[in-house]
Amino acid sequence: MLNAQQIRQKYLDFFQAKGHQYIPAALLVPQNDPTTLFTGSGMQPLIPYLLGEEHPKGKRLVNSQPCIRAQDIDEIGDNRHTTFFEMLGNWSLGDYFKKEQINWFFEFLTKEIGLDPKKLYVTCFYGNRQFGIPKDTESGSIWEEIFKHHAIDHKQVDLINQENGSKIGCQDGRIFYYQEKNWWCRVGKIEDMPINEPGGPDTEIFYLFDQVNHDPKFGKYCHPNCDCGRFIEIGNSVFMEYLKTIKGFSPLPNKNVDFGGGLERIAAAAINSPDIFKISLFEPIIRKLEFLSKKSYESETTAMRVIADHLRGAFFLCLDGVIPSNKEQGYVLRRLIRRAIRFSFDLGIENNFISQIGEIIGNIFGDYFTQIKDKNNEIIQILIKEESLFRQTLRKGIRELAKLKSKKLTGADIFKLYDTYGFPLELVLEEAFKNDLEIDQKWQEEYQKLIQDQKLRSQTATKGTFKGGLGGHELIHKKYHTATHLMYRALRDVLGDHVIQHGSNITEERLRFDFSHPQKMTPAEIKEVEDIVNQKIMEDLIVTFEEYPTDVAINQLKAQGAFGDRYSDKVKVYKMTPKNEQEPFSIEICGGPHVEHTNQLAQGGKRFKIIKEESSSAGIRRIKAQLI
Ligand code: ALA
Repeated sequence: MLNAQQIRQKYLDFFQAKGHQYIPAALLVPQNDPTTLFTGSGMQPLIPYLLGEEHPKGKRLVNSQPCIRAQDIDEIGDNRHTTFFEMLGNWSLGDYFKKEQINWFFEFLTKEIGLDPKKLYVTCFYGNRQFGIPKDTESGSIWEEIFKHHAIDHKQVDLINQENGSKIGCQDGRIFYYQEKNWWCRVGKIEDMPINEPGGPDTEIFYLFDQVNHDPKFGKYCHPNCDCGRFIEIGNSVFMEYLKTIKGFSPLPNKNVDFGGGLERIAAAAINSPDIFKISLFEPIIRKLEFLSKKSYESETTAMRVIADHLRGAFFLCLDGVIPSNKEQGYVLRRLIRRAIRFSFDLGIENNFISQIGEIIGNIFGDYFTQIKDKNNEIIQILIKEESLFRQTLRKGIRELAKLKSKKLTGADIFKLYDTYGFPLELVLEEAFKNDLEIDQKWQEEYQKLIQDQKLRSQTATKGTFKGGLGGHELIHKKYHTATHLMYRALRDVLGDHVIQHGSNITEERLRFDFSHPQKMTPAEIKEVEDIVNQKIMEDLIVTFEEYPTDVAINQLKAQGAFGDRYSDKVKVYKMTPKNEQEPFSIEICGGPHVEHTNQLAQGGKRFKIIKEESSSAGIRRIKAQLI
């Protein structure tokens, strides 16, 4: 049986033998692409070539690309999702197409890796009438031929979507058609594609782990796209042949293939383990964690998975030059490290341990990623520094806790330790227990209420429920709050009056803002909004507020509010007005508080920047922005 490292090499060799040129992996932090924080698929750096530019290495390319998908950090812990993974990729830039791609990858899986073809199930694009894109029966027929040739049943079934899939199940099918799941583009959904974005139908291969029972929590019947984990996607061939235009879709200059397959998942299929943490790229890390904690992976599965995943991601981010900080990629790195440490408490590991895991990660990957050799020590030093910084923070919390020794610990005390010192609840309780502190019987109720209040406070920031209590963080909250108003107005100026606020949330690190808008913002629109906000910050608008009867505020002053908000009969109205002018730039119903004049947002040379623009729900976009 091949291990993951051998599979990576086999893949590269296999496609090189088929005329592909090896291209080095791109950095995890995309260069010249401000729209995403991380490289999340192998095709990202190849966009210009998929759009038609000639690649210096030719029309057939192959590599293994480290990727980070940080959206779901809090959800890591199951048997197959990770924030960091390696994507095996091969590309045809207007050279071969469906037939070669499908046959080659099947050959690779079954002949080179030795997967049992009976365990493979595939999905193809059902078509989309609204956008005039036909059903991909060509891929379906190619698959049918292949399975026929191996004397494997090959029935084609239209499942169309998840809901229908779980309602009717597999129907003894082998080749399944889905709509949304089998369209691939960078933004995910076909309807979210901005103009000039390439995309296309795809065909995905799933491996059936038949030792896993279907979990009805995910629907009555199982099917390839069911989330229960019985079927796991191990490869995706995208037939990149369309370009989004103002009118709909037009053909790209070339019919391209963009293939991506998760190395970790293919390696898990190769050992027939539905748990990817059993593969050779994880196993030594897990073994070390078992050794350090004297606990078994079987008893501490989640914690060990989280630590292993996060520290791999952290290691590779450091390798690509990211350092822990409070913004952008550095912030994600910091979160990964801190979460790993918090989970290490579950294992009872109390000493510095990250450097030991870092060494192991360096060993696992050093042979292939040869740049590790020179940077290993530097990476370990960064990890050690961040670990000791976080442990210091935690120690401060412990000292605070000790001060409370003489009294009963209340829910408010526990909340403060969590809120101000980042001290996890479980640790507070454990420390209290160790130190024989008495805990108020009603602590839980009070704590929950404070957590709830805090959530509400940030969700309804624009409605003025900030009632102090934010301590030293108050000024930065005010700044983000003011930036939110400026941005709301700028969004309406750039996109139109259909933009209505649907939610807002502010932390010390960023603002978040949900608003109605039917499609993804283009990079040009994002830039325009940023420019307007920065311009208004520079112009140093004066921020004032007055109370008005609600109907005057809404109907006469045309003050903006948020969708679904209910107001009492009097409301506070905040205005941001250029000096020597009457007409405010922004006028919103809001409880405050805000800074007094907008130039305060630029203190320390900061500028307003949109760091993310994504879909939040149907017709609602979400922006995250920072002052950096
Ligand atoms: N770009 C495709 C993906 O990420 C292959 O799934």
